[in-house]
Amino acid sequence: MSQAIVITAGPTREKIDPVRFISNYSTGIFGYELAKEALRRGLKTVLVSGPTGIKAPAGVKLVRVESALDMRRAVLKELKRADYLVMAAAVSDWRVKTPALSKIKRANKTLTLHLVENPDILTEAAKLSNKAIVAGFALETEDVERNALLKLRNKGLDIIIANKLSSKKDIFGDNIIDIIILDRLGNRHIYRRGSKKKLAKIILDKILRFNI
Ligand code: CTP
Repeated sequence: MSQAIVITAGPTREKIDPVRFISNYSTGIFGYELAKEALRRGLKTVLVSGPTGIKAPAGVKLVRVESALDMRRAVLKELKRADYLVMAAAVSDWRVKTPALSKIKRANKTLTLHLVENPDILTEAAKLSNKAIVAGFALETEDVERNALLKLRNKGLDIIIANKLSSKKDIFGDNIIDIIILDRLGNRHIYRRGSKKKLAKIILDKILRFNI
């Protein structure tokens, strides 16, 4: 029987009112490249995706979500049948406590949003799953390796893929990046100047070969 992988991609959107939201610059490219590569290798692939402009590859089970809470629900459901989970999504760390039910009018000269913390999907998934190999991403602006290592440990992950927010351009848009892959067994690999397509192959190699 073929193995199953759940991959998350893209940003989440957190509603402010019926027409506005808080989000981030994630394009979803990395997650979609990982999904393409997983399909190529014959894995049953579930792509849990926040809003992106990318067409899902044929053969993938696409689960569209909007908010972090939607993503959490979808991931925890799909995780039950998964052998691997890769969280490439840029999940919003906060959501608006009580989104307005009707459009907030501009007559309000200032607007204060009350934000509350979103659950950490990866931490929860790593705790719940006893059989799946769990991989996360770490996007850092400084101390990349140290921060990634902390995330690997604190979130209880098997593998973490770290990248640095590039100085010249937003990494979310950059297609050529450097990454460091760290795992809980102490392995450490650096890959420089790879396209997200090429890096997706390398990352999947590492994840599929990871020995519990
Ligand atoms: N992640 C998650 N749920 C969240 C936030 C992040 O599952 N609420 C996952 C991301 O998909 C990623 C990993 O956790 O795989 C690290 O995300 P990142 O934004 O780098 O780190 P945070 O945990 O949000 O910490 P910080 O923002 O303080 O760096």
